[in-house]
This record gives sequence, structure tokens and C-alpha cells, in this order.
Amino acid sequence: MTTTPPLLEVRQVGKRFPGVRALHQVDLTLAQGEVLAVVGENGAGKSTLMKILAGVQSPDSGQILVDGRQVQLDSVSASIASGISLIHQELNLADNLQVGANIFLGREPRRFGLIDERRINIEAQAVLERVGLDVPPTRLLAELSIGRQQMVEIAKALSVKARVLIMDEPTSSLSTHETEQLFRVVKELRDSGVSVIYISHRLGEVTELADRVTVLRDGENAGELPREEISHDNLVRLMVGRDISQFYARRPHEIGEPLLEVSNLRTPTWPQHELTFSVRRGEIVGVSGLVGAGRTEMLQTLFGIDRALGGTVKVNGTRVPAASPREAISAGLALVPEDRKQHGVIVEIGVRPNIGLPGLRRNQLKLGMLNAAVERRDTQTMIEKLRIKTPTAEQIVQFLSGGNQQKVVLGKWLTLEPKVLLLDEPTRGIDVGAKQEIYGLMEALAEQGVAILFVSSEMEEILGMSDRALVMHEGRITGELARSDLSEEAVMQLATGRSDAA
Ligand SMILES: Nc1ncnc2c1ncn2[C@@H]1O[C@H](COP(=O)(O)OP(=O)(O)OP(=O)(O)O)[C@@H](O)[C@H]1O
Ligand SMILES: [Mg+2]
Repeated sequence: MTTTPPLLEVRQVGKRFPGVRALHQVDLTLAQGEVLAVVGENGAGKSTLMKILAGVQSPDSGQILVDGRQVQLDSVSASIASGISLIHQELNLADNLQVGANIFLGREPRRFGLIDERRINIEAQAVLERVGLDVPPTRLLAELSIGRQQMVEIAKALSVKARVLIMDEPTSSLSTHETEQLFRVVKELRDSGVSVIYISHRLGEVTELADRVTVLRDGENAGELPREEISHDNLVRLMVGRDISQFYARRPHEIGEPLLEVSNLRTPTWPQHELTFSVRRGEIVGVSGLVGAGRTEMLQTLFGIDRALGGTVKVNGTRVPAASPREAISAGLALVPEDRKQHGVIVEIGVRPNIGLPGLRRNQLKLGMLNAAVERRDTQTMIEKLRIKTPTAEQIVQFLSGGNQQKVVLGKWLTLEPKVLLLDEPTRGIDVGAKQEIYGLMEALAEQGVAILFVSSEMEEILGMSDRALVMHEGRITGELARSDLSEEAVMQLATGRSDAA
């Protein structure tokens, strides 16, 4: 009797980077029509393994088999020929091209030697419909929100007609609705016999989707769970090697006078609405709402990235001039942005110069010389405090894992010791263990008297971390909930604009 080999098998794969052992003797199998989740902490080696399968990186050792036969995945086209397609963790699209052109980039259908635009548009339209994205193929990619760009990336991978589709944190910038669409697509793919490797830090998604889970820890296999044993606690135990209890350890602390006062603020995106609220010394205020409710716009206007059309912002009683992030910083504001590639870090330079960036002015000595010692000390503190996984402080940021890049952004702004800290989706892409560290850090900063305003799309985070929550809907603050009134239902009522229940 012969048994059919698995569709895909990884045997004893190893991969090193200078100073880092990213993968060590890793095994993985994938059956046809199976959804396999791969989980692990930031820097565990998940993306590296997926890049090897996609032919983006080559392993130092080990074998990869497809249908029981060894394959050389030494280029992206070799992987695609073997039926493997990867949706990258970091968006990998061309901003200056149309949506359809992005979907067919590098494999454009041709007619008489010319690119067949008509066919591109027809076929792109079909895959866009399949992922439920209502955008014409002729739209410029740059005009779409990050969530929609992510859906284009997914449409692109689908259009290759892969046998194995790898999704590396596909939902980290999707709205609830887009996430549901994606889940529907994943289940349809599975039912049609396509295999999916799914990577996510959202353990709820893993529990819902996965037929099986493989766990990586420090570049090695740390265990496997069959469908019936997949639970939050089992996943966490295998990932971090310890129990994480007391996820949101809020301690009662003193809340003082208002440090941030916003009155009648009008943003360019929602000029018809005025925003008025305050955040007090030592207070943590969460901002909830659906994607597109205007939360990011509010933070960006507060910080002066977008020009306010009216209203005032005061920090510690002093008015902050509009439209100047520099003045906002000197007034004591700091913003950790949502899109780390655009506003967060410069990925081409090292960890230290990134963390040093906003402090440049403060650290400058006489004669215009940078105080390198201060910068080195700040960087070391942040690497330790945030447990940034990097071989040295000089490592180029784009070589860090996604979650560790996010920590660099956070470290960069924390060195400024702001009075008011604005955080936009602070734990996006961050693993469970590190999330807890960030919550602990927010708590510690609040205890030191920092006023914190954080935007989050994760309900648990809003409920767990807020002393008070603001809820937004279509550019307006539809309600404010004290900690004692916080519940999922109350937040959702306000987030969907139904205030009748209140
Ligand atoms: N091109 C590279 N050069 C140097 N080091 C790298 C490179 N790519 C990854 N690494 C390192 O390899 C390790 C594994 O990284 P990887 O991106 O695979 O982690 P991950 O599990 O995907 O983490 P995350 O959940 O944060 O995305 C990390 O220590 C990372 O810094
Ligand atoms: Mg990754």
C-alpha cells in the first residue's frame, strides 16, 4: 500500500543571517486543502520560512518537497511554477501603478507583443470581485487605504491560481468587514482544494480558521496542535514557553489635571464636525470606532501632520500652533503612527539612528555636534525595555521582523519623554508576549503622569486598557464611556452610530 505524500513538506531547514540564527532544523508539512496556521513570537522565523517557500530567500540547509519530490525554489518564478504564492507581510505593491497593473505586474498578458490592458482590466475585475473589493482596476493604487491595498495584494496572489497560498499577517490592516471577506475567501479556497498557510498574531483568527497549528520559537519547531486542541491558552504556552495570566494588569492610579485639551477641532477629512475632549495627567484614554471613523485623521491633525481647519489644541495649558509637528513635539506631544513605513521609521538605516531621530534637536551639543553617547544610551534602554530582538543597535531596520520594527517606532518616540503620548494601533503586528510588555509600559508611563490617547481596533485592548474611552463614527465623537460603563455592546452601539440605546 502506498500513502500519498503531503502536498508540501519542509525538512530540517536552516537559515542564518549575520548574527542571527533565523531557522534551525525546521520541519513542516501541509496537506492538500488544509489551512495550516504558523504562529510564534516576533522574530521566531515565520516570515523567513515563508520567504524561503516563496523563492525570495534561499535556505542554508534542508530540503523542500512538493508532492514528495524535492524542488529547488531558487526564484519567485520557480515557486510559482511549483504552485506556491506568498502574500507578503509588508505591502509589496507599486504605488504609482493602477490596481490592475499591480495584480499582473511582471506577468502581463500580451497581444501582438503589447500589454493587453483590456484583458488585464477584465481579469483583474474578476479577482477583485472574488475578494469583495469594490474598486475599478484602473484606480491608482496610491489612492487606496492600506486595508484596501492589502486586499489588492490578496487578489494578486489569487490570480496566480496557486495550490499553496501563504498569507503572512493578512489582516493586520483590514477592517472587520474586510477581515470577514478574507475569511470567506480562505474557506472557499480550502473547499476547492487549495492549501493555505496562515500567519497571524490574532489568536482568535487562528482558532477560527486553522485545521492545524505549527508553532515556531526562536527559529525552531516548538510544537503542533491538531484542530481539537487549538485554544488561546495552548497557543500561548507553546509560543512563549510560559503562562501569560493577568493580560491587562491595570492598577488604580492617580488621575490629575487635563494635560491635553482639544476644543472644536476640525480635521480636513471631516470639516463639518468639531471634536472636543481632554485627556488628564496619568489617564489612559482609548479611541474606538470602525476603520474609517476618522480616528487616525484626528491624531494626525492634533499632531500637526494634517492642518486643522479650526479649533484649538492645548498641552499643559499652552496652545500648540496648528500644522507643525515640530511645535507639537516641543510642546510635549508625541505620535506613534499606524503606518510605520510611511511615518514611523526609516527602514534603510539602523536601529540607533532611528531611535535617535526625534531626539536629534534635544541631544545636540554646542557646535552642532550630536551627542552620540546620549543616543547610544537611549537606544540601549529602549532595546532592553521593549525587548527589541536585534543582533546589535546598528542593525538595519528592514532586516528586523515586522513586530520588532513596530517596537523601534515606539522606542523612537518614547525617548522624547512626552507629556502627552498619542498611539495609533500601538500593538499592530506585535506578539502576545510583547503586547503585554507594551501594555505594562503604557501603565508605567501613566503612573509617571503621562497622558495617553490610544487608537485601537481591538475591542479587548480598548476594554482592557482604557480609563475612559471615546468612540467615533464617521468623523464625530459619538460617545464617551467611563471605565465602569465600558462594555463591548456599549462601544459597538456608539461605533455604528446607533446612540438610541444610551
Ligand atoms: N534579511 C535579513 N537580514 C538579517 N536578519 C534578518 C533578515 N530577515 C530576518 N532576519 C532576522 O531573522 C529573525 C526571524 O525574522 P522573521 O521576520 O522571520 O520573524 P517573524 O517570525 O516573521 O516575526 P514577526 O512576527 O515580528 O513578523 C529575526 O531575528 C530577524 O531580525
Ligand atoms: Mg513576520
